[in-house]
Amino acid sequence: MNDHTAANPVFVALDTADARQARAWAEAVRPHVGGIKLGLEFFVANGGDGVRALAALGLPVFLDLKFHDIPNTVAGAVRAAAGLGMAMLNVHAGGGRAMIEAAVAAAGEAGANRPRVLAVTVLTSLDAGDLAAIGQATTPSNQVRRLALLAQDSGADGVVCSPAEVAMLRQTCGPNFLLVVPGIRPAGAATGDQKRMLDPAGARAAGADVLVIGRPITAASDPAAAAAAIAASLAGTRP
Ligand code: C5P
Repeated sequence: MNDHTAANPVFVALDTADARQARAWAEAVRPHVGGIKLGLEFFVANGGDGVRALAALGLPVFLDLKFHDIPNTVAGAVRAAAGLGMAMLNVHAGGGRAMIEAAVAAAGEAGANRPRVLAVTVLTSLDAGDLAAIGQATTPSNQVRRLALLAQDSGADGVVCSPAEVAMLRQTCGPNFLLVVPGIRPAGAATGDQKRMLDPAGARAAGADVLVIGRPITAASDPAAAAAAIAASLAGTRP
């Protein structure tokens, strides 16, 4: 997170295994976004060197690898990510308090440039039936709230949450907890496989700090123009 992100809350999701494609997208949209998000697909194909090469473009990077392991292993992974210069990374809140605390402590070792640690609560692909099957007899919304509070209490900087949860979490977790929100679709855009959506300005109004937007930009015939239009739609929304 830096001034760039404060000025533009959009992190573009570069969901590809092709490093050249990712770089072309990043270079095209660079003036119109606040950062880039790299996930498992990119990382498994291109590793830390691939991440470093894109980070060198100068935009903050959100490394979306959703760490979930014993505290010692997650701390090591967070240290390695901090060494790549990441602005944000994430862990599964379901890994528990000690794991989240270990991640936060490892990130803190990087000092002023420490990556922000976000927690993933309940995957949006899970419904109440899926939760019951893994022994969690509650609604997704209750479980999201519970895990967000656990993450906050364990020192995490924020959570990744769906548009359906952002207003509830802003109220539950207060003004200083980062809410990073995918599932954003500009008005009139194709929805793809996203089921619960907000448009960019609506997500900001609901309390989102960072908007993760992939295909509405990367699948557009002109990604730079798509990103610029989204940035324009956000002009004047709160920082
Ligand atoms: O292309 P689209 O805008 O749907 O991309 C959204 C990005 O956010 C993808 O990288 C996806 O993996 C991620 N994401 C999501 N829904 C979640 C969590 C993460 O779409 N609940």
